[in-house]
Amino acid sequence: MSHAKTDTLKRRHQAVRASLADQKLDALVVTSLPNILYLTNFTGSSAIVILTADRLELLTDFRYVTAVRDLQREGAELELTTVEGSYDAMLVKRLAQLLTRPPGRAGIESAHLTVARHLWITTSLAESAAGTTNSVTLVATEGIVERARVRKDPEEIATLREAARRLSAVAAGVLTDVRAGMTEQELALAIDWRIRRGGFSRTAFETIVASGPNAALPHAHPGERKLTEGDLVVLDFGGVYASYCVDLTRTVSIGKATPRARDVYGAVLEAHDRAIASVRPGASRLDIDQAARDTLGRYGLAEAFGHSTGHGLGIEVHEDPRITRRRPDVDTRDEAVAAGMVFTIEPGAYLPDWGGVRIEDDVLVTADGVEVLTDVTTELIEI
Ligand code: GLY
Ligand code: MN
Ligand code: MN
Repeated sequence: MSHAKTDTLKRRHQAVRASLADQKLDALVVTSLPNILYLTNFTGSSAIVILTADRLELLTDFRYVTAVRDLQREGAELELTTVEGSYDAMLVKRLAQLLTRPPGRAGIESAHLTVARHLWITTSLAESAAGTTNSVTLVATEGIVERARVRKDPEEIATLREAARRLSAVAAGVLTDVRAGMTEQELALAIDWRIRRGGFSRTAFETIVASGPNAALPHAHPGERKLTEGDLVVLDFGGVYASYCVDLTRTVSIGKATPRARDVYGAVLEAHDRAIASVRPGASRLDIDQAARDTLGRYGLAEAFGHSTGHGLGIEVHEDPRITRRRPDVDTRDEAVAAGMVFTIEPGAYLPDWGGVRIEDDVLVTADGVEVLTDVTTELIEI
């Protein structure tokens, strides 16, 4: 569970309210569960939040009433509306009751509401307004809460630092688990067990153990292949601690690494180190990516690095900021990284039929530079 303090929640609400005022909106309808968690500490699986200039209303059902009462007792300023039938019918009813200054403008999260729900809510709002002066219009918004989430507050930073410390301890243990002859699945299970034993509530994504030629697939699923002398093995795992995600990758060699494996590993490690060295407040997230990409290019591995250098971490394992390449089709808004942002640096090189290497750490942008939150050796380990 994440427990932002009352004052922290209030600051988050004010940040969203400032965006509502800018966009001349009377309310924001929050349907993204990670955004709801950020605004309320609510960790259930069904809810809608209506945030207006002076209130925050949480719509949820019987299963979570006690949990919401606990949040209220802990000081969260929210009103509970218990949903008995349809969430969207209750949403329509409450919007019509709350936004009485016509025409009411309610923002919806365009990335988190399906077309079907949008149509239904729009039609129902029109029906409920028929014959009255009341009317509520839905207005598509983009990333209002996500923009507030991108710079972590001190409580979130403390949680992520602790989560990264725990994941580093998990990784140190994992490096002692690896044995030639075990299957990828067996090793993945051992990693998941360590993640749970390490105090995480769950893994942040399906653990990746990719051995030999499978390591050429950046998101391979662990299978029945046995770890074999001469393999490079990519181990990529993450955990959710107090609702916050951390993510780490190391690549190990089964037996003595070949000269080619050492070269590729060395190039990826240099790309990782140079990207981290380029992180500071004001640096462009596209330039941080470029630092990794240029390094791999110098070793003839530009084509072998086909994904982004990193992604933000927080309530979600993949969130803003995206540390990505400069391309015409990439969104270049909010290019500069700022103090309080937490993201991964995870360059890799993937060579079909041969294998691959990825090295991933989690970093925090500080007031004057960077703090690497994860702490595990980056030496190439030969097992
Ligand atoms: N495997 C997920 C990631 O590293 O982003
Ligand atoms: Mn990862
Ligand atoms: Mn990652």
